[in-house]
Amino acid sequence: GKKFVITAGPTREAIDPVRFISYRSTGKMGYALAKRAALRGADVVLISGPVSIAPPDNVKVVNIESAEDMFNAVVKESEDADVIIKSAAVADYRPVTVSDEKIKKSDSSMTLELEKTDDILKYLGEHKRKDQFLCGFSMETENMIQNSREKLKKKNVDMIVANNLKQAGAGFGTDTNIITLITEKQTKQLELMTKEEAAKQILDEILRCQEEHKKEENE
Ligand code: CTP
Repeated sequence: GKKFVITAGPTREAIDPVRFISYRSTGKMGYALAKRAALRGADVVLISGPVSIAPPDNVKVVNIESAEDMFNAVVKESEDADVIIKSAAVADYRPVTVSDEKIKKSDSSMTLELEKTDDILKYLGEHKRKDQFLCGFSMETENMIQNSREKLKKKNVDMIVANNLKQAGAGFGTDTNIITLITEKQTKQLELMTKEEAAKQILDEILRCQEEHKKEENE
């Protein structure tokens, strides 16, 4: 009966009507999380960028394209959410101008000017209710634990699921992942496992942390 808001997949930042900037994300991790949360009886809203996997049963899907669309959808759905899991690969930058017409090539090189998108996870951390659990993801190629711990603090997040893109079997597109669950109190390194199994472990850890928070408040 808890409300879960889960984001998945990449965002697309348009350059012109035929081109965009995006990420190599397929949405598998986020969709596995949405499926498992629904199977456990949560009310799940899955906010998804463009992916080619079928949505899980008993999940409300909100399809979005850009980081700005995702920001608006997440903020709207998060107000009454108990748990928010941000597994989407949100573009950090978008083109400053979007051409209405296809940009034609010329003989010279081309420079695209980019501006920052709003950091959704940071916004959610700043507006987090005391009883809300916020879980972010962190994809790194070096200094994974240190960088992820910094994100945990800077964005006021309860847990970061970190993975190192350079490890075989982790990251985008694969059916497996190698994740490390990072909270203020601990760093839990898990073995290589399927994304379905990883989703189960992430949900178990979130529930465990919530129980722990509750206990501490009652003491
Ligand atoms: N994220 C977000 N909004 C953005 C960018 C990222 O909500 N505009 C979220 C992602 O969904 C993810 C987390 O932030 O849960 C971490 O994303 P990541 O790209 O690893 O980290 P950044 O904070 O963007 O920092 P950097 O790219 O420098 O590693």
